[in-house]
Amino acid sequence: MPAHVIDGKATAATVREEVADGVAGFVALHGRAPGLVGIQVGDDPASEIYQANKAKAAEAAGMVARRITLPDSTTQAELDALIDELNADDAVDGMLVQLPVPEQLSEPLIANRIHPDKDVDGFAPVNLGRLMRGEPGNVPCTPQGVMRMLRDAEVPLVGARAVVVGRSLIVGKPQSMLLLAEHCTVTVAHSRTVDLPALCRTADILVAAVGRPEMIRGDWVKPGAAVMDVGMNRTDDGLCGDVAFDEAVEVAGWITPVPGGVGPMTIAYLLANTLEAAHRRAGDNLKGTAA
Ligand code: GUN
Repeated sequence: MPAHVIDGKATAATVREEVADGVAGFVALHGRAPGLVGIQVGDDPASEIYQANKAKAAEAAGMVARRITLPDSTTQAELDALIDELNADDAVDGMLVQLPVPEQLSEPLIANRIHPDKDVDGFAPVNLGRLMRGEPGNVPCTPQGVMRMLRDAEVPLVGARAVVVGRSLIVGKPQSMLLLAEHCTVTVAHSRTVDLPALCRTADILVAAVGRPEMIRGDWVKPGAAVMDVGMNRTDDGLCGDVAFDEAVEVAGWITPVPGGVGPMTIAYLLANTLEAAHRRAGDNLKGTAA
C-alpha cells in the first residue's frame, strides 16, 4: 500500500490559524500586535520571494510586518547598527536576516548580534544552547515544522530509530535535538557517512536535508518508515526534494511531498516563534497560548 502523503499546506494552514488566534489574544492583552522585521541584503530573487511571503503571512496572522532591504554593498558595521537599533525597539518582537548574505558579511556575527529573545530563526548561539539544554527559547522553524507533521500524523516517536541526513545549523543539527527530546534514537548522517543507503534502511524516521535532488532512493527506505523531505532543489524539471518521491511513496508509511510538504511549515513556525517571542518578552505565561 502506498504511503500516507502528509499535506504540509493543510498542516501549515492549521498552524497559521492557531497563531492568528494567539495574536488576537496578544492584542487583547497588550493593546499592540507582535512585530516582525525581515532584513534582506542585496536583491537575490529567491530571498526576495521568501521575504515577501514571510511579511504577507505575518500580516495575515494580524502581526505588524516590516521589510528592510539593504544594498548589496552593505558593510558588517552598517548591518550591526541596524540590528542594534531593532534590538532596542520595543515594537520589534522578532527579526531575521535572510540568508545567504553577500560575502563581506558574516553569518556568525549576525547570529551573535541579534538579541536572542528576538532571534525568531533560532540560529543564535544562546538559542541553540537552550535547545540542547532543553530550556525554553527560539527553536529553528523548519525542524519544528517537521516535528509538528510527525505529531499530527501520529508517527510513533518514543524509541524510534531516526536518521537525519544533513548536519546544517538550520535543519540537521536542531532536528536531531528535537527528535532526541522526543526519545528517538538519533543518528546524524552526512557526506562522509559510510554506506548511507544501509544506514537509511534502519530508520523508522528518515529526515532528508542535504540539498541533493532525489538522492534518497526507494530502496533506501525501510518499509513503513516516515520519510520527511526537507529538500528544495531547483532543477531543469522544476522543484524537487532530496527523496525520489515516486519510488519512496511505494515503500514508506508516511511521506512528505515537494512542493507542498515541509516547505510551508517554515513560515508557519516563523509566525509561531514571533508570537511566542512577543509573549516571552512581555513576561506572559506561555501556557494556553498558540505559541
Ligand atoms: N534562508 C533559507 N532558509 C532560511 C531561514 O529559515 N531563515 C533565514 N533567515 N534565511 C533563510
